[in-house]
Amino acid sequence: MDILPAIILAFWFILPAYAANGLAVVFGRGQRLNRTLDFGHNFIDNRRIFGDGKTVRGLIGGTAFGTIIGALQFISGEQVALPWLQSNAPIGLWIYLAFTTGASPITIPFLIYQWLTFSPLFFILMGLPTNSKTLLAPTILHGFLLSFGALIGDLIGSFIKRRLDLQRGQPAPVLDQSDFVIGALIFSFVEYIPPIEIILILLVLTPMIHLLANMIGYKLKLKREPW
Ligand code: CTP
Ligand code: MG
Repeated sequence: MDILPAIILAFWFILPAYAANGLAVVFGRGQRLNRTLDFGHNFIDNRRIFGDGKTVRGLIGGTAFGTIIGALQFISGEQVALPWLQSNAPIGLWIYLAFTTGASPITIPFLIYQWLTFSPLFFILMGLPTNSKTLLAPTILHGFLLSFGALIGDLIGSFIKRRLDLQRGQPAPVLDQSDFVIGALIFSFVEYIPPIEIILILLVLTPMIHLLANMIGYKLKLKREPW
């Protein structure tokens, strides 16, 4: 796959996870009707299990928001992206090739069937990964798994930080920027494993984007620290 389409597909794929992780900051603000996920309890090492930065509202609100983003992706994929690809498919060229190469008459209905059903072969003929349909019009389960997985990954990140005696908000480079995307990917694998280049792009680019987003969040006074 070319690098630019791969980057675009990668971000389309991971969007619910970014949305969930980003909005947890907004939903988690304030103490009203909110509790920390560890209910203030300590772990066996007498340090907090997760700390004050992981709340019930952040988890539920973030997961719900990310799932809604996933549902909107499904609708726009089905309504816009797939019909657009279908209308741009060089079906006439394939039929011409089938004729000129002396393929059997069954080939033509076969090609049309592939085109109408968005089969893996359709995407190969379009020069896209075989499972592009799952990428372009992801299911709502996909949005949920990515959102919930992102926040569980973030929670595990905080658990590790507390074990290392890092206080809430103290930086843990790499861990702070990647825990959520690793969690999101692992959860989403239950439903679908994307091409390896998509996974690599996300693991490499996410930390940089996360840092940039947090600097903006800090300037907007949404976040307490610029990381
Ligand atoms: N947040 C939340 N609930 C979550 C995740 C995040 O309420 N499940 C909110 C908290 O207000 C948190 C903020 O989002 O302070 C930023 O999240 P993050 O940077 O992950 O937490 P930190 O406060 O830095 O805590 P930690 O050191 O545990 O990462
Ligand atoms: Mg933090």
